[in-house]
Amino acid sequence: MKAPVRVAVTGAAGQIGYALLFRIASGEMLGKDQPVILQLLELPIDKAQAALKGVMMELEDCAFPLLAGMVGTDDPEVAFKDADVAMLVGARPRGPGMERKDLLLENAKIFTAQGAALNKVASRDVKVLVVGNPANTNAYIAMKSAPDLDPKNFTAMLRLDHNRALSQLANKAGVAVGEIEKLVVWGNHSPTMYPDYRFATVGGASLKDRIGDDDWNANEFIPKVGKRGAAIIEARGLSSAASAANAAIDHVRDWLLGSDGKWVTMGVPSDGSYGIPEGVIFGFPVTTQAGRYAMVRDLPIDTFSQAAIDKTLAELEEERSGVAHLLG
Ligand code: NAD
Ligand code: LMR
Repeated sequence: MKAPVRVAVTGAAGQIGYALLFRIASGEMLGKDQPVILQLLELPIDKAQAALKGVMMELEDCAFPLLAGMVGTDDPEVAFKDADVAMLVGARPRGPGMERKDLLLENAKIFTAQGAALNKVASRDVKVLVVGNPANTNAYIAMKSAPDLDPKNFTAMLRLDHNRALSQLANKAGVAVGEIEKLVVWGNHSPTMYPDYRFATVGGASLKDRIGDDDWNANEFIPKVGKRGAAIIEARGLSSAASAANAAIDHVRDWLLGSDGKWVTMGVPSDGSYGIPEGVIFGFPVTTQAGRYAMVRDLPIDTFSQAAIDKTLAELEEERSGVAHLLG
């Protein structure tokens, strides 16, 4: 039997938490032979702690063979103690009519404190995924607040955008989702993101050629993927939860277990590639293997794509300067 992996999840009693924890405990994220210990963080308020207790009771009632232990707490230093994986979900979600960046200052404080706690007590190789919005800038804040940890281990979730784009493309092209490879979503998890299928293939042939409709790309596909989060909020009255949890599982699973040479989109600190300033957490195409990722390099960027990348970068730079005062 393998040694258990410690997975910390914040906001564990929230919507996404409820769609996420049971799948982690059943082995869908780290493998059907990998025991896990769940270390669950919720706010230090009675209602949140009571809800967390209820979720833990349900986890217990599932009798998951891979669930080797559980901790529920309101203290980040307890939740992150020796954590191998930290999924930072807990934050306020936006409501109708808000943009994710409207949450910036309120949620930023959470990620300064949690970055510092990770720095102090987590495994030195902890893999951090930030889901709470605005995800890229929150991941940046957590990374900057954890100077002793490897910045490469701080990532933001763009996998939901990647998955949304995959489904739209599969519908348009009349192919199965699983047949599409080499898709990327550049930039910020916000309406400025740039889902880019110029390199995508189906069975080795160009998806762009198969679709052959540049008008659809600019006027339907890109805005639809970019505004999908708002469309879900409009329809459900609540932000996406099951699809977000699913994307979080995809992100961590591929990062730790490998993407088999396939491209996936992760929000990762830039190393200066594609003219993105070093350190900015940006959606890039990567391949992954055993807890490492490698950037897909030297893709040609045409004028349309450069303008889209510049736009999403400008927004991230603006968010970054909006929180600079919190980072000392
Ligand atoms: P929710 O309100 O249902 O749950 C959030 C939970 O986090 C609550 O239980 C709350 O008590 C808890 N929480 C708040 N602050 C906390 C803190 N400092 N420490 C620990 N727990 C804390 O919200 P949700 O629907 O689960 O969404 C959570 C976040 O994920 C939101 O910011 C939402 O916008 C974001 N989100 C991101 C993506 C993405 O693709 N990156 C997708 C969907 C949602
Ligand atoms: C999403 O994309 O569904 C989430 O980021 C929630 C939101 O605020 O849109």
